[in-house]
Amino acid sequence: HFGPGAQRHDAPPADAGEQLWLTYYQHIFNPARLKLKMMQKEMPRRYWHNLPEAKFISELSASAAERQSHMIDSGSSTPLRRIQIAPVSGLAATRRKSASEPHAHPPTLAALNAATESCRNCPIGQHATQAVCGEGPVDARLMVVGEQPGDQEDLKRRPFVGPAGQLFDQALLQLGRSRSDLYITNAVKHFKFEPRGKRRMHKSPSQHEAAACQQWLDHEIATVKPAALLALGATAAASLLGRHVAVMSESGQWFTRHDGLRVLVTLHPAALLRMPGHAYATAYARWLQDLRLALDRPPIAN
Ligand code: URA
Repeated sequence: HFGPGAQRHDAPPADAGEQLWLTYYQHIFNPARLKLKMMQKEMPRRYWHNLPEAKFISELSASAAERQSHMIDSGSSTPLRRIQIAPVSGLAATRRKSASEPHAHPPTLAALNAATESCRNCPIGQHATQAVCGEGPVDARLMVVGEQPGDQEDLKRRPFVGPAGQLFDQALLQLGRSRSDLYITNAVKHFKFEPRGKRRMHKSPSQHEAAACQQWLDHEIATVKPAALLALGATAAASLLGRHVAVMSESGQWFTRHDGLRVLVTLHPAALLRMPGHAYATAYARWLQDLRLALDRPPIAN
């Protein structure tokens, strides 16, 4: 379609988005989270004249206490979308009768795999090739938990078989151990990625997505009943401990969950792979120490 060219006065005003922003700001201003001092520390008052939304701050702050008590009085609301807890049948633990018995696909974990495959409690599942549950002996003493399957794991339906997994295997070899003693899984069971050309670039799962997957990890823990857990990275640590974990400062330490299980937190191997050469050697040596600690008998819970 061809028509007459536009005139200069047809262009939207330069601040056309401002009204939208102001409306948005007023709606996201949460009276229950108001921290005026912190707000002023982050953005001193002398700069407020540069902020179009600053004109609302006094009014919104003045009404914050009243709005907050109104929120408390009105009670909790029903979430728009409830996460369905899918029943997984036959989840009573099945253990090997002898060490020589193969541990591939114990029925309970097979049921879990099937249930996870069809999980659509968050949007990741519909884009991934398939769900990737854990693998290893159902009576493993140590359960190793990563973040989520990567590109290769998604294609092969096996956890930790890509570059991060290879580094993990290399470390186990150095420690004289093998992954056949370990139950290895992830906090999130589907691969989250962003397509870039022909490549699928890893994207970290959101808190909501990790929360939607929590039930599957809980089922795995209930089935395997490990003596201890090793969290590789922040997502795994948060899913296992139910709180934000600062991995750099909390790595190498045992924590106790409310069910009494001990969790050792350490770096994710992918974080090591991203490190520049000079930082890598020290971090890798420390990581090996953490892994050794987890592979040895975990301390008795306090
Ligand atoms: N990173 C993870 O956290 N898990 C995998 O399975 C692979 C890479």
